[in-house]
Amino acid sequence: MKIKNQLFTGDCKEVMRELPDSSISACITDPPYNYEFIGHRWNAAEIQRRVSRVQGSKTLVKNIPYGSGLAGGVRNARWYERVRQNILDYEQWCYEWSVELFRVCKEGAVVAAFNSTRTMAHLQVAMERAGFYARDCIVYRRPSGIPKGLNLQAKLERKGVDGSENWVGWHSCLRNEWEAIVVVQKPLVNNYVETLLKNGIGLFHTINEDGSFQSNILENIPRDEREQENVHCTVKPLALMEKLVQMIVPASSEHLILDPFAGSGTTLVAAKKLGCSYVGIEIVPEYVEIARTRLNELIPPSVRKNVSNVSPRTPLLWHEDTF
Ligand SMILES: C[S@@+](CC[C@H](N)C(=O)[O-])C[C@H]1O[C@@H](n2cnc3c(N)ncnc32)[C@H](O)[C@@H]1O
Repeated sequence: MKIKNQLFTGDCKEVMRELPDSSISACITDPPYNYEFIGHRWNAAEIQRRVSRVQGSKTLVKNIPYGSGLAGGVRNARWYERVRQNILDYEQWCYEWSVELFRVCKEGAVVAAFNSTRTMAHLQVAMERAGFYARDCIVYRRPSGIPKGLNLQAKLERKGVDGSENWVGWHSCLRNEWEAIVVVQKPLVNNYVETLLKNGIGLFHTINEDGSFQSNILENIPRDEREQENVHCTVKPLALMEKLVQMIVPASSEHLILDPFAGSGTTLVAAKKLGCSYVGIEIVPEYVEIARTRLNELIPPSVRKNVSNVSPRTPLLWHEDTF
């Protein structure tokens, strides 16, 4: 099966089974953080249906689609047990796809996987169970973060409770300003030098443009102007994905970068722009079309293949990092 510069439609657990052993030089991926859809098809229409049921609500937390176990509710034993079970299911699901990912990675391949601050520990443990070695957790500091959750003072005031003013500033959560990038690595061939000589990978590129040493905090990365046809709900900035590519894999078409949760293809576009090869997998055919269009736009018009058009639409509403 030809895998170089291919984008597959399907469940990544199944598609990765078709990929050859030790064929991938790096993986940069952004899997779903919310554990509501584990074991199910990622269903944008269902998300939209649920979100529209609570539209008009002033409480942001209520805009979380039902089923995540986090959209309000009484914090009784049943609630905590459901949430706990959800996160364990999520960890198991991460473990299952990580097993395949581990097999297809070359020794020394670095995996950078985005996750929320609440669920990242489970992703790291799942990847370690699959055989990877934990290396780091990069902070991606976003340009903004909206406070979510309960404003106690406002709630008490609405309930007519005396002394609500004493609770100004007390909330049920902190402002969520960063996302985690869990960094793991497939074990080396004995050491860094042998791994580099065999596979050409295994280290991090650490010199910034200004000469400083690269830290594990990525910040001041501007958001992209949203391309009209890109209706994906959680597009990562292209500059961020380019930075990750540059940090973990030398620029060469010999290196295949995998994104098993490709979405609108930002990782793949970054890899291609920087002269690497890519393999993408995405379960929603509409997103695959968007990614194909974006990849195709990097090809000079004179050699461009025909791709089907994707009609412009309003981006879907979806909150991934919920508290
Ligand atoms: C957070 S988004 C990735 C967005 C991407 N970083 C971008 O910039 O467009 C996660 C993607 O994983 C896809 N997905 C969810 N479950 C999947 C599965 N089992 N196999 C493949 N793709 C899946 C979703 O449809 C969604 O597009």
